[in-house]
Amino acid sequence: MSLTIALSKGKLLAGSEALFRRAGLAFPNGEGRKLVVAAGELRFLFVKDMDVPTYVEYGVADCGVAGKDVLLETGADVLEPLDLGFGRCRVVVASPAGRAFAPDRAATTRVASKYAKLAAAHFLERGLGVEVVRLAGSVEIATGLGLADCIVDVVETGRTLAENDLAEVETVAESSARLIVNRASFHARRAEVQGLVAKLQDASR
Ligand code: PRP
Repeated sequence: MSLTIALSKGKLLAGSEALFRRAGLAFPNGEGRKLVVAAGELRFLFVKDMDVPTYVEYGVADCGVAGKDVLLETGADVLEPLDLGFGRCRVVVASPAGRAFAPDRAATTRVASKYAKLAAAHFLERGLGVEVVRLAGSVEIATGLGLADCIVDVVETGRTLAENDLAEVETVAESSARLIVNRASFHARRAEVQGLVAKLQDASR
């Protein structure tokens, strides 16, 4: 049986494809909208970025490529043998540019984010009780429209923040793409998994 690999259909897809091809591994050739695709010795699942760890944790996929940001948010119980070095970004707190972010401890600060758990934990550590408004994307519009006082979101080039009149306040976490492996597969399919890890490690140097 082929090893099953879960990949994100989002920003990490191009880097994942480049890495697999560099490693001499098979990769699907633009199969349209098919989400489960066999290629060579491997089978690929193309899913939402936040769902990659779930497929791997539950053993539907043996391995996956997920951002550290997503791993921190989902808290999935998976092995993480390799930092693949691409997809570097940061999860940050950002608030309207030109105004100091000074949350009023007497009032509830509202934070909009896709990273609800990370955001809540970040402010809790600072002793600030916040109300997190969970959004699925386009988080940068939330402050300008009065939905939230600040956001917690991913920054790569900083362009989205700048174009939406937001400025970084502080970093919550650093992220890059990681290879993740199901705990049972790591033992039960040791030789195949280790072969894959070795090839990806060489190709990610
Ligand atoms: C991510 C993130 C920011 C943007 C940051 O969005 O949520 O919106 O990228 O990149 P930048 O700093 O280079 O501008 P993504 O494209 O993944 O879509 P989303 O709105 O669905 O989160």
